[in-house]
Amino acid sequence: MNIAINKIQTFRDDFTYSNSPEAIARFPFPFTDDEYKYTVNMEPHQPKDGENSVYARFFDIDEHYLSEMKERSLVLAEMPKRCLVMPHMELACWDMIEKIMTSLAAQYPQHFSLTQDGDNWCWENKLLNIKDSFVFGDSSTLPKPPMEYIGRQIQGDFALLDQRDDDLFLDAGIVTCPADWSLMFDAGMSFSEWHGPVPMAPSQNIFERALKYLVAIPVGRPVRRLNWTLTVNARMDTASETYHKWGHERSEVNAENVAEKVHLRVELQVIDRMPRSNALMFSIRTYLISLADISTNPQWAQRMHRVIKTLPPALIEYKGFARYHQHVVDYLAQFDESAAGD
Ligand code: HEM
Repeated sequence: MNIAINKIQTFRDDFTYSNSPEAIARFPFPFTDDEYKYTVNMEPHQPKDGENSVYARFFDIDEHYLSEMKERSLVLAEMPKRCLVMPHMELACWDMIEKIMTSLAAQYPQHFSLTQDGDNWCWENKLLNIKDSFVFGDSSTLPKPPMEYIGRQIQGDFALLDQRDDDLFLDAGIVTCPADWSLMFDAGMSFSEWHGPVPMAPSQNIFERALKYLVAIPVGRPVRRLNWTLTVNARMDTASETYHKWGHERSEVNAENVAEKVHLRVELQVIDRMPRSNALMFSIRTYLISLADISTNPQWAQRMHRVIKTLPPALIEYKGFARYHQHVVDYLAQFDESAAGD
């Protein structure tokens, strides 16, 4: 498959980000029902599902590659601590390097290549004009620490979870496009601690059941799930620490601009056991689409209308769109014949 990579677009200031018709067609629309509730929604991540689907490869590279890599470099320049690695996670970082380099080279040979001669590796990334020879496992032979080096070359955020005492600990990550959370704040926390702010899920034991499942994931059996929220403007970096830059935008949505300003933000999360360190690698690949682009698919718009209209108030509040919830419902109502009287 030949992906056409866009020239660099922005996720801040003038927000030039846009989706091509092809990107809209392959958008991972998350709603399978007219009502949404939290569930333990995990399934095997066996890349297949069609040549062009976001699930077709282990890691999805798309037309936004250069734009997202540029955005990541801007965030890291401002806040280097968006990449945090505790010393005991060094081996897990090399696991991550291996998984990403071998997958990308095998699945996108036109863009990436890897040659391995024992521990002497040579990596080429033609999209970013990078070519480096290094000794696998020896950080001093890479131009940057391993997680940052590879994290600057792949779309999506990454966390590496150390597994101890049947629990998971957020002990490393490169996180430049989180949906309103903070790596610095969550670093070192356990599974139930970092999920502490999530409403409603604890009463259904979602996290208890999910954790049991996760700690038993063996090597070679990755799983995936989708998560979603809404974001104002095509802003990738909605981290808690930059709230002052984007929080006020929530009150700027009105009936005239809702279709262009409000974006559905979907995370394709993949969880994979690392063979050397026994860590879990958690990748969060974020996709953004405006309501205007969603409404080019009337079935999506109708379903989303029903989901957003019936969403429990605690989730509207937690996901941060209480202030413009009604504008979204009103806009999407035109695509739903059963919407009279919204
Ligand atoms: C093991 C890797 C995982 C990591 C690192 C992770 C991390 C996070 C973080 C940082 C948040 C934001 C919490 C906040 O508001 O501060 C979150 C939210 C959430 N997580 Fe996880 N999570 C993981 C796995 C899972 C799994 C397996 C499930 C469910 C089966 C799950 C379900 C949720 C839900 C429902 C939310 C609320 C999201 C929303 O409504 O927007 N997570 N997660």
